[in-house]
Amino acid sequence: MLSTSIVSDADTRRLATASAAATRKAVFWDRIARKYAADPIADMAGYENTLRRVKDFLSGEQDVLEIGCGTGTTALRLAPFTRHLRATDVSAGMIAIARDKLAAEPALPLSFEVADAEAPGFGMGAHDVVLAFNVLHLVDDLDHALTQAVQTLRPGGLLIAKTPCISEMNPLIPYLALPLMRAIGKAPQVLCFDGEALQSALTRHGLQSVAVERHGTRGKDIRVFTVARKPA
Ligand SMILES: C[S@@+](CC[C@H](N)C(=O)[O-])C[C@H]1O[C@@H](n2cnc3c(N)ncnc32)[C@H](O)[C@@H]1O
Repeated sequence: MLSTSIVSDADTRRLATASAAATRKAVFWDRIARKYAADPIADMAGYENTLRRVKDFLSGEQDVLEIGCGTGTTALRLAPFTRHLRATDVSAGMIAIARDKLAAEPALPLSFEVADAEAPGFGMGAHDVVLAFNVLHLVDDLDHALTQAVQTLRPGGLLIAKTPCISEMNPLIPYLALPLMRAIGKAPQVLCFDGEALQSALTRHGLQSVAVERHGTRGKDIRVFTVARKPA
């Protein structure tokens, strides 16, 4: 059973007004939050490559927003390289675990809050960087999520994302295994796109490509690391 004692009043208000889609998502991720927190990172070397690369784009003068932060592992690592990192997730269960971890490092310039990446509320032009790790394939509508990300970026700000491109997997996975797992509640709804389609979506939202890389160290890497700039 997840602790609800550290869900803040603001979280409670957000949860009360969340869309049906956000609530459905939260139910899935709340249910698996403890397991997600306990599972080891599958490709630690690839993960460290990504963290190193993200740090190249961060500075202590930046206000940073993370969407879909999960249990906060990455936020805890990156917060020291920002002025402030506001890490958000649709799942109160994930955020509760993240806050437990933050309690051990209270001096970090980091806060966690419950928020749907597809809903307005991050503040217009309020952030220098938006981080999105392993989440853009999980939103209901990529354009909605990108609209919110672009709106909250200041001119010249960066969207830094690492995104599984499901269309690049063996087709048996997206078209057979995932639907079967979804039917028994073991997988979330996913968007299927490849790296090229992701890049087109970023361009469609007026973002200029700064970097497109793959950091995996184990076999075929379907996770595209992208950095894109909102024009100044
Ligand atoms: C695969 S986990 C990734 C967590 C973390 N970013 C990482 O890389 O380990 C996906 C996370 O995205 C969150 N999520 C899914 N849809 C979301 C949405 N619409 N808005 C905010 N968070 C969302 C889930 O609750 C979950 O914590």
